[in-house]
Amino acid sequence: MRACWGLLLLSVSIATAENGSNGWLRYAPLPDNLRQHASSLALPSAIVTLNSTEASPIQTAGKELAAGIQGVLGRSLQVSHDIATASDLSSSILVGTVATYSSAGYGSLNASSFAADGFWLRVNGSSVTIISQNERGALYGAFEYLSRISQGDFSDVDLLSNPDAPIRWVNQWDNLEGTIERGYAGPSIFFSNGLIVQDLTRVSQYARLLASVRVNAIVVNNVNANPSLLNETNIEGLGRIADAMRPYGVQVGISLNFASPDLLGGLKTFDPLESSVITWWTDKTDELYKRIPDFAGYLVKANSEGQPGPLTYNRTLADAANLFARALQPHGGIVMFRAFVYDHHLDPANWKADRANAAVEFFKELDGQFLDNVVVQIKYGPIDFQVREPASPLFANIPNTNTAIELQITQEYLGHQDHLVYIPPLWKTILDFDLRVDSKPSLVRDIVAGRRFNKKLGGYAGVVNVGTSINWLGSHTAMSNLYAYGQLAWDPTQDSQELLQDWTRLTFGLDQSVVETVSKISMASWAAYENYTGNLGIQTLTDILYTHFGPNPANMDNNGWGQWTHADRTTIGMDRTVSNGTGFAGQYPAELAAMYESVETTPDELLLWFHHVSYTHRLRASGKTVIQHFYDAHYAGAETAQTFVSAWEALRGKVDAERFEHVLFRLKFQAGHAIVWRDAVCGFYHNLSGIPDEAGRVGHHPYRIEAESMALSGYSPVAVALAEMASNSTAVVVVVAVTAPTSSNGSSSSSGPAKGEAVAVLDSPDGVYDLAFGYFDVAGGRAHYGAFINDEPLLEWIGDLEDHLGHEFSTKLDGHSATRVTARGVPVQRGDVLKIIGLADGNEAAALDYVAVLPEGVVD
Ligand SMILES: *[C@@H]1O[C@H](CO)[C@@H](O)[C@H](O)[C@H]1NC(C)=O
Ligand SMILES: *[C@@H]1O[C@H](CO)[C@@H](O)[C@H](O)[C@H]1NC(C)=O
Ligand SMILES: *[C@@H]1O[C@H](CO)[C@@H](O)[C@H](O)[C@H]1NC(C)=O
Ligand SMILES: *[C@@H]1O[C@H](CO)[C@@H](O)[C@H](O)[C@H]1NC(C)=O
Ligand SMILES: *[C@@H]1O[C@H](CO)[C@@H](O)[C@H](O)[C@H]1NC(C)=O
Ligand SMILES: *[C@@H]1O[C@H](CO)[C@@H](O)[C@H](O)[C@H]1NC(C)=O
Ligand SMILES: *[C@@H]1O[C@H](CO)[C@@H](O)[C@H](O)[C@H]1NC(C)=O
Ligand SMILES: *[C@@H]1O[C@H](CO)[C@@H](O)[C@H](O)[C@H]1NC(C)=O
Ligand SMILES: *[C@@H]1O[C@H](CO)[C@@H](O)[C@H](O)[C@H]1NC(C)=O
Ligand SMILES: *[C@@H]1O[C@H](CO)[C@@H](O)[C@H](O)[C@H]1NC(C)=O
Ligand SMILES: *[C@@H]1O[C@H](CO)[C@@H](O)[C@H](O)[C@H]1NC(C)=O
Repeated sequence: MRACWGLLLLSVSIATAENGSNGWLRYAPLPDNLRQHASSLALPSAIVTLNSTEASPIQTAGKELAAGIQGVLGRSLQVSHDIATASDLSSSILVGTVATYSSAGYGSLNASSFAADGFWLRVNGSSVTIISQNERGALYGAFEYLSRISQGDFSDVDLLSNPDAPIRWVNQWDNLEGTIERGYAGPSIFFSNGLIVQDLTRVSQYARLLASVRVNAIVVNNVNANPSLLNETNIEGLGRIADAMRPYGVQVGISLNFASPDLLGGLKTFDPLESSVITWWTDKTDELYKRIPDFAGYLVKANSEGQPGPLTYNRTLADAANLFARALQPHGGIVMFRAFVYDHHLDPANWKADRANAAVEFFKELDGQFLDNVVVQIKYGPIDFQVREPASPLFANIPNTNTAIELQITQEYLGHQDHLVYIPPLWKTILDFDLRVDSKPSLVRDIVAGRRFNKKLGGYAGVVNVGTSINWLGSHTAMSNLYAYGQLAWDPTQDSQELLQDWTRLTFGLDQSVVETVSKISMASWAAYENYTGNLGIQTLTDILYTHFGPNPANMDNNGWGQWTHADRTTIGMDRTVSNGTGFAGQYPAELAAMYESVETTPDELLLWFHHVSYTHRLRASGKTVIQHFYDAHYAGAETAQTFVSAWEALRGKVDAERFEHVLFRLKFQAGHAIVWRDAVCGFYHNLSGIPDEAGRVGHHPYRIEAESMALSGYSPVAVALAEMASNSTAVVVVVAVTAPTSSNGSSSSSGPAKGEAVAVLDSPDGVYDLAFGYFDVAGGRAHYGAFINDEPLLEWIGDLEDHLGHEFSTKLDGHSATRVTARGVPVQRGDVLKIIGLADGNEAAALDYVAVLPEGVVD
């Protein structure tokens, strides 16, 4: 939204603590000067909703408008449905559909200018009209109006807004037992112990958030689906979920286990062409629609990562999709069929093997065979939600098939919501990308909207994974990704930064310095994260065999999963050329295939995605070598992450204390973990290539005191298994006198209280320093640490990040558990004695890596 902020420079009063449960739908009171401004305007004094059915989204719109105006302006408006008694319409908000508007006698509107879910919002002084083609569209219009007034914008508007694409879904990866795959915000709000939970309050609150960003359906369970979801008890439970979400216009769909006819139905087969199987699915589908007449449809992950599928019976993926399509068709449901089909037992020694090729290889020959209510759901890139990927070439290869793009709001490869990464700028690189099919403009967003190839269905699926965390995603700031996802699915031409700023005003208030700071941090965050993780298209370099959280470049190679880097002592990158590599570049339309085929024309940011080059290969833009770029980018990215902390700290007093501290805690963690990333990745390639950093930083830490070099008692040095995950490859762990450390995970084999002391005499010149303590916080223990200078307490902390953060925790000393805390502005005199006392607890041996004594402005 572009608004005029001239008169809005404010002194915002700080509200009481907030827990984030309302996300961006807080309806916080406007600051006094804006309220005064509002009171001088003619504003609506009543709400008329043209439908009195309780579960109707029109009714919901009425309630939401009343609550929002109450919150924002402190005015109570009556909601009525009866036109005869409605107060003067010239000072009312009127909400209805095209049909109810005309049958109530307000005149006829041109219905054909509305798409399904579209709305018309007209604000003319005190008269507000919100009309839509279907009921949920009017709710979207109401949320649009509320967003405007919440941001202090009371200007007149005449807006007809239609969605770019009909499919704007979210996918939850919730398991029936209540866990969530790649969920970082607590257990499921939907399921527990194999059943749908009884209290669905949070489910309807979630539907409210989704509706406010115009998401129209949700798939509630994991794509790795449990067949028990389809039993009688659980179908009834799904019905209750649908009932809870219906007032918000959010339809419910589910993921299927392809082998259900066998596993649940006892048929001993799940062959999609077998008549008993067809009958089983048809009956099951009818049963679902009996309970949920507006059921959205199915999401299917078949023959992928060990999931059952049609290939068992030598049937095609189209046979599978069409089986469900036929069962759903009479009810108006659709099948979202995932293109994420690949072999995860690839041979890493085979230079031509490439997981990225799989989707086109499986689906291209099936183009035209899918029924009209099938949509192939394609991840944005050919691998798996990496920090940088080219657009999936599948979008260009199946013009006779409906497609949707799969995005990930849940930060599986982007720091598990414990790193702030605002993702829309990444999504935009894909959505705005021109695939040049037949040498004609072919933007990915136009393909998935159905426009480019004249398809009726298509759109967006976003993996969300909200959990029971009161703030939904575990992190307040991560909610900007959910907000912007819905907005972009509606209109992908919107600007990432403008969306972010709307979200910030709605979430944290209208103070301009808050808006500017959140904007600055967020807009830099993806670039920073890419910088301190994996550069030049090498992918994220996280630990793909373990938690997908911290660094582990070695783990990318020599496994069957095909997320390889092919790094050796002199070279790095996947050769995906047609001439000498895997041939992947040839899956793109001619112009792009030619561009990616040549190392000379491939954009730097994807160099290592497409080419296997020497570490000393020079980049086109900067002329730097690949390895020097790695070093520079990692140092720059980690440095950027440090600035997030200071920028946010400057907002103290301008954001309520509860959310301020919550965000600050995470930004501090991110700043420390960014340095872990930097050191691990730089250390790994430095060690592998033997090429020094021109700037002399990598491997040299003049401000650090290694824990192993301190005077130790009760602490013993231990070599960290992944050498680059610890400074000087060594940490110290607390051991009980008689017991040696048993392994690199740092645990000792005896129990009982165990204490270690590490002492160093500081020889920094007298001055004020930041003292950063590198340590390891593993799962399953709460070690205590105390740092003292000349026996005066300096800092105390506990290895209890698992109680505060949402990422997957590791049980080892590695790049997931490595972290640090910093004491700022510490006066130090040469000769001061620094002592650290560690008390082990459970699995946690109070592992300590180093202390950095940092002069002002030094990041290390
Ligand atoms: C969160 O805040 C809301 C609104 O202030 C309040 O109603 C709710 O009780 C709070 N929930 C928790 C768990 O603190
Ligand atoms: C009123 O809302 C209900 C529930 O959404 C819907 O079934 C009905 O068709 C609506 N009535 C009219 C006249 O639009
Ligand atoms: C109704 O809207 C459609 C689509 O915007 C337009 O093509 C048509 O001319 C309009 N009809 C009238 C009568 O205004
Ligand atoms: C707004 O309302 C005024 C008075 O009710 C009317 O004269 C004017 O035409 C309206 N403007 C629009 C754009 O509908
Ligand atoms: C359905 O499955 C759940 C486990 O997911 C189980 O608790 C429940 O009893 C089953 N219901 C029926 C009717 O089999
Ligand atoms: C699988 O199907 C293909 C095409 O219908 C056929 O050529 C092939 O012989 C079948 N293979 C087996 C093992 O049935
Ligand atoms: C071609 O591929 C081989 C591996 O099969 C590799 O060793 C060689 O360097 C590549 N040649 C070029 C020109 O990239
Ligand atoms: C990322 O790294 C590049 C290369 O060193 C640098 O120019 C850029 O400023 C960095 N950006 C951020 C946000 O850290
Ligand atoms: C690095 O670790 C090795 C082996 O633990 C140790 O001998 C050496 O003193 C350490 N270097 C520093 C600077 O602490
Ligand atoms: C360097 O690489 C070698 C060989 O993989 C490994 O044994 C060693 O631990 C690595 N050292 C560091 C500091 O990463
Ligand atoms: C640490 O390693 C030891 C020995 O390998 C093992 O028994 C123990 O389970 C490990 N601890 C954790 C928490 O993984």
